[in-house]
Order: sequence, then C-alpha cells, then structure tokens
Amino acid sequence: MQTATPAATPIASMTQEIPGTIAPGRARVRSGAAALAAPEFRYDRDAILRLKRERNAVILAHNYQTPEIFHGVADIVGDSLALAREATKVDADIIVLCGVHFMAETAKLLNPEKTVLIPDLQAGCSLAASITGADVRSLRHRHPGVPVVTYVNTSAEVKAESDICCTSGNALKVVESLGVEQVMLLPDAYLAKNVAAQTEVKVLSWSGRCEVHEQFSAEDVRRLREGYPGLSVLAHPECLPEVVAAADFSGSTAAMCDYVEEKQPARVMLLTECSMSDNLAVQFPAIEFVGMCRLCPHMQRITLSGIRRALETLSHEIVIAPEVAEHARLAVERMLKVR
Ligand code: 13P
Ligand code: SF4
Repeated sequence: MQTATPAATPIASMTQEIPGTIAPGRARVRSGAAALAAPEFRYDRDAILRLKRERNAVILAHNYQTPEIFHGVADIVGDSLALAREATKVDADIIVLCGVHFMAETAKLLNPEKTVLIPDLQAGCSLAASITGADVRSLRHRHPGVPVVTYVNTSAEVKAESDICCTSGNALKVVESLGVEQVMLLPDAYLAKNVAAQTEVKVLSWSGRCEVHEQFSAEDVRRLREGYPGLSVLAHPECLPEVVAAADFSGSTAAMCDYVEEKQPARVMLLTECSMSDNLAVQFPAIEFVGMCRLCPHMQRITLSGIRRALETLSHEIVIAPEVAEHARLAVERMLKVR
C-alpha cells in the first residue's frame, strides 16, 4: 500500500508513446505530471480538498486513476487487495472510491455502516460483466463439491455465490490455501491459466477477459524489446499466458509498482492500463517508461469534476441488498485472512 503524496510532486517526463498505440479521444499530455499543475484542475482539486475536510471523507484510488487524482487528491492508493485491506481501517464517515464499481462494492461490504460513494455508476469492468450469480450456481451444479474462488473483479451478487475471493495479488495463495485438488477460479480465463501454470491444483475457469489486458500480444513484447534494448517488461496476470511468459515479471498492479521501485530499471514497459505508467513516471523521473497505451474506459470515467460532484451531492451511493451483502462479505473476509 502506498499513500498518495500531495500535488507538489515535481514535473516529470511522460510515458513514452509508441506511435499508433494512443487510445482515441485522449490527450495524453494532460495525464502526466503536467496535469498536476494544470490550471483547469485547480478549481476541482481545491474544492475536493475542502469538501473532504468538511464531510470527513477519505478518497481511496486505484493505481489506474490518472495523475491529477492519484497524486492530487487521493488519501490511499493501491491495487485491489490494498484498497480492500485499507477499507477495513478507514476512520471516516464517507469513502469515495475512485476506481470501478466492484471496488466500491468491496469497500461497502467491508464498511456496511459507512457511506461509500463512486463518482460514476457506469464505471464497470468487462470481467465483472462476464458472469452472473446464476452462472456460478449452474457451474456448482456441474462441478459438485469443487470450491469456487471468485476474482474480486466481480459483482457482489457473484461474490455471494462463491466460497472465497481473490485478487491478482493473492490468487495463487488463495487457491493453494484451500487444500483441495481442484478449484474453480472465475471469471478471468487468463488469470486462471496463469495461476494454473504455477500450481499442482487443477484450475477450472470461465471465459471472462479483461478488455484492456487481452489487447497485448507476445509479438508486441518481441517488437518492443528489439526497438528498446535493455527493456524490462512487466505484465499483469490478466494478460494472455504467452504474454506473461514473454515478460520478465508478472504481478498485480502493486507488485509491478514495487518492482519498479526496487529494481529502478532504466527502461520499463508495463503491460497494463497506462495511467499507472503515468503515475510512476511522476514518482521516478529518471526511468524511461515505454508506453503501450491501453486505457480502461471504465477507470477513465472517474474525473476530478466527478469526484467534486460526488462529495457535493453525496452521490452515487453504493447500496447492496442485505442478503447478498452478508454472503459476499464472508467471501471477501475469508480472502483477507489468507496471508
Ligand atoms: P489489481 O488488483 O492488480 O490492481 O488489478 C485490478 C484490475 O482491475 C486490473 O485490471
Ligand atoms: Fe476491468 Fe480490465 Fe478495466 Fe481492470 S482494466 S477494471 S479488469 S476492464
């Protein structure tokens, strides 16, 4: 877990773009360190900092949030696992979750008495959308007795049907903690394959995919290694298994940040949502971040003005039906006990 630094971080070089990889509709120059000082953000940032104090609110932001959020207004930043762990320690009346809907639901599950807000209710996730509670019930019917491990990138309804949750940061540990020969790891087909490659446990999976990570190919890695000698390649485990195999390291977003911090490679490419490279470029100006810019359209729905509105109007509040929340919370709490 890392705690966000205030907006005083010095201006740094931007993630280096590979021509043709910039996601449409996005002026990347705004997303780097320059964004921290951009006058158009000042009004929202000052208002957010004031509203946080007035409302006794705390902002939890995922590593994929853009620099003006990540470095400018967040109190706690991290991967899904860190955000879930930190959510259990929050001493505030209101949590604003800057990330996608399942992350806000997880924070609410762990804080039933607190108000949990998400600035945009449409901030979803292709993995979470790939499976329903009914799908899990039917899988249980087809594979009786096989425990269900659900990736945290799922709805509360799906978590409620599962035995335990996991994140990319602890999937292998969670699978092995069950002490069984076979598990279902749902819904990410690639995460399941990447975990299966590291364990004796037989892993049954589903057909979900992350619409961002599935775009990277092993050919991209080969081409960029050729063009950028000495390049360190880090891949998120939602990438295809052949991409993970072609990388130097694979881990959760927090594990990738730790790798960059510890090894300080001269040149690095992060095969993940590219706002994370922008955030790290602010922190490590001497490192060259070679960009394969893939943006998560859901994460990008969260903006400074949206956060300000969320705090002004106390919307959009996360509400989970009590019978769903009761079961889903157990699956998340079981995961948090696995060390
Ligand atoms: P992490 O848990 O590694 O932060 O990943 C979340 C996610 O949505 C990756 O696409
Ligand atoms: Fe979901 Fe992929 Fe976006 Fe992560 S990057 S929130 S897995 S769609």
